[in-house]
Amino acid sequence: MSASIIDGKKIAAEVNVETAVMVEELKKKGVQPCLAVILIGDNPASQIYVKSKVARCAELGILSRKLVLDRDAKPEEVFGLIRELNEDSAVHGILVQFPPPPQISEKTVVGAISPDKDVDCFHPCNVGKLLLGETDGFSPCTPQGVMTLLEKSSINPSGKSAVVIGRSNIVGKPMAALLMQKAKGANATVTVVHSGTPDMAEYVRRADIVIAAIGKPEFVRGSMLKPGAVVIDVGINRVADPSLPKGYRVVGDVCFEEAAAVASAITPVPGGVGPMTIAMLMRNTVKAAEAALQRAK
Ligand code: GUN
Repeated sequence: MSASIIDGKKIAAEVNVETAVMVEELKKKGVQPCLAVILIGDNPASQIYVKSKVARCAELGILSRKLVLDRDAKPEEVFGLIRELNEDSAVHGILVQFPPPPQISEKTVVGAISPDKDVDCFHPCNVGKLLLGETDGFSPCTPQGVMTLLEKSSINPSGKSAVVIGRSNIVGKPMAALLMQKAKGANATVTVVHSGTPDMAEYVRRADIVIAAIGKPEFVRGSMLKPGAVVIDVGINRVADPSLPKGYRVVGDVCFEEAAAVASAITPVPGGVGPMTIAMLMRNTVKAAEAALQRAK
């Protein structure tokens, strides 16, 4: 193996230390940041994510409110709750854990959350600001986590060729927007490849930086990479493995062993991008509280 491992746990811990300091500063000004997390139903993966978010809030001195609604909650209930939280000045950030059950539209949920409290950066208003390069909105947690991993690993995307694999609204699209931004720590030449791209490997092979966010276990093989490429794996996939007590193992969208033999740097799964997403959510919650304090002046 030749690649250096980008340690997301360590970098997220550094970011969290900075966030805890920001929380202390706000508390001196009489404000304690507060995140409201809405979980609808009992999806096991969502329950784990929500638990981690609430636990991280507590570690960093951020207040949290966990609001659990029944799997068959009516849309009025969900939107009534969001409206209450929008109006509650003690709440600075609101997130609804996705995916919601089928009767609740993701698009309508996203549009109902006040853009000022949209710490996921899913609201069209914040997505628009992101595309326009305006810095007074929020930055999307997972893509911003990737940018921070690159920065803290002294990998400068400027002038480099980056390929984003996947075009989801949560990762692929905002990832491309951040990488192409005319800004320090960005400024890459970005290509987005997806399920409609013939011969995806042709594009990946030319990239200096590869961001894999396609949701397919070990999709990116060593043979698809340019020697010395930086490989960031956003995937979290469960694959059956009866030899393990849980019956499955967690792998990314990249075949780690193969890629690590070709790449110059690579993120592991778990312990790469995952911890950064929550670190960025905490940072956005603090930013939301800071902005609310400014508006109140
Ligand atoms: N489900 C999977 N990822 C996310 C995320 O980043 N935010 C929310 N709200 N739900 C998710």
